[in-house]
Amino acid sequence: MRTHYCAQVNEEHIGQTVTISGWVSSRRDHGGVIFIDLRDNDQVLQLVCDPTDNVDAHKVAEDVRDQFVLIATGKVRARGEGLENPNLKTGKVEIVVDSLNVENRSLPMPFDLGDERVNEEIRLRYRYLELRTQKAYDTFKLRSKATIATRNSLDELGFLEVETPILTKSTPEGARDYLVPSRVHGGEFYALPQSPQLFKQLLMVSGFDKYFQIAKCFRDEDLRADRQPEFTQIDVEMSFCDQEDVIAVGEKLISDVFNKCGFDIPTKFNRMTYNDAMENYGSDKPDMRYDLAMVDVIDIFARCDNEIFSNLAIDTKKNRIKALKVPNGDNIFSKREMKRFEDYVRQFGAHGLGYFQMKEDGLKGPLTKFFSDEDIQAIIDRCELVVGDAVFFGAGPKKLVLDYMGRFRIHLAEIMDIVPKGTFEFLWVVDFPMFEKEDGRVKALHHPFTQPKLSDNGKLNHDDVEDIESIAYDIVLNGTELGGGSIRIHKEETQAEIFRLLGISEEEANEKFGFLLEALKFGAPPHGGFALGLDRMIMLMTGSDSIRDVIAFPKTQRAQCLLTRAPSPIDNEQLKELSLRIRQTQTEG
Ligand code: AMO
Repeated sequence: MRTHYCAQVNEEHIGQTVTISGWVSSRRDHGGVIFIDLRDNDQVLQLVCDPTDNVDAHKVAEDVRDQFVLIATGKVRARGEGLENPNLKTGKVEIVVDSLNVENRSLPMPFDLGDERVNEEIRLRYRYLELRTQKAYDTFKLRSKATIATRNSLDELGFLEVETPILTKSTPEGARDYLVPSRVHGGEFYALPQSPQLFKQLLMVSGFDKYFQIAKCFRDEDLRADRQPEFTQIDVEMSFCDQEDVIAVGEKLISDVFNKCGFDIPTKFNRMTYNDAMENYGSDKPDMRYDLAMVDVIDIFARCDNEIFSNLAIDTKKNRIKALKVPNGDNIFSKREMKRFEDYVRQFGAHGLGYFQMKEDGLKGPLTKFFSDEDIQAIIDRCELVVGDAVFFGAGPKKLVLDYMGRFRIHLAEIMDIVPKGTFEFLWVVDFPMFEKEDGRVKALHHPFTQPKLSDNGKLNHDDVEDIESIAYDIVLNGTELGGGSIRIHKEETQAEIFRLLGISEEEANEKFGFLLEALKFGAPPHGGFALGLDRMIMLMTGSDSIRDVIAFPKTQRAQCLLTRAPSPIDNEQLKELSLRIRQTQTEG
């Protein structure tokens, strides 16, 4: 139904007759001559319906409205001088229409397509219309390119694409599962995979050596701007490898994909230990597009004449006093603004936020009176302060201080507008702790199949489980966690020890992961891998604020699909078949 796509028509076609088809993106009547912008999947081309050229076509054009489906045939001509549109790929030409067919009419649009200020509820309800915009098409073209580049890159590296089940058993990523009731086994449930983690490890036991999958994953967790309940991972696993081998594959894959998508990025990325990331940036995913690193000043504050600080300094394992220098901050922020930052950090549990200003005549601020001249100088030296700088400091329990100072760093960068646009700063964060304690309970930071670092005697020697490091790594892009992975445990004894430390009994471990534990006994090779969030990658490539922009049919923050109205009730017959009964929860009041 076409000889050309709109984007293919250019000055070389002047004088030729072409047929194009698509949707009316706008129609203007200029004193008898009707101009129609016709858009196909990719581009817009201008049609001219002039009654002096063709009365019939002009008559059809009179009834045409926005988003009608047209097939138009006519001669290509150059636009008149001054009438060219430099914003359009096809902006130098137009088609003088000979024949115009309305293939379908359209209801008036429920919202102005492409107007992002329109309530998202309406846009998601009519998502197929929003996808008709140039911006959406460009996004999904890029996403398709990235997916194909992924396959090509991993294929070249010798990886095999294998699909793993969607109807499966609970996987260990730590979110809630989406469950699917079984009809055949009444009262029993499948879980949708939170990731293909266990199956990819089994494929290594099978000897597949290098696996990948562009895998749908499902997690019932609180949603944020960069999270969806259903998302896609580029999932990779390999055998007989160490961390360096996996990182090399990750770097090759990411740089191939970014390059194919038109972004010039380095082939090797910087690295930082988890400990340095937390201590210097207050985050395990620091944004390295700007500096604003913190320094430790607890040893200096230990000597000050204020008990709050000197007491904190007694336990340097548990507590932190961190200083964050803002170059030129004293010139940028008024005293009032500096005080107002205290309100910002209070919402994250801080008791306060101290500050000093570096003036011509020395360090000033409400707390300087507690310090000796030598210690004032020590602060200046430690923070490398010059006149005009400001320095903020947070004091208290380690976890709390690192968290709110990390958030404050990001907040400062935003309000100071120092985050460069259009740049990509990749960072591997390595040497993650194996465990973290939450409310006294020991949890695996990555997942319980991650290989802990062993002492020379091959054992897990430790005073505190939180001191055990793992061979786990994350890849961070512009302050967002793009992916993560680890070397896995391939020896059953180590796995049993980790379960013991996690307080998982043998029965529970067998019930949940027995099939994997058994497989480890049948000659499991050393193996490891990683997974990248494909949606997040496209979100960062396109500079989108929300992950929903890069998913064709996304869910809302409340995990609903407004287009299909899922989730939705099911009828009694279906419930019965699935051996389910809905219990009505009483609402009070
Ligand atoms: P992890 O849980 O870190 O690791 O997930 C890997 C990457 O998947 C993306 N991601 C998400 N994207 C959108 N919405 C979500 N709800 C969501 N959750 C995760 C992130 C994240 O970095 N099996 C391990 C990987 C491995 O060890 O090989 C895993 O799933 O970009």
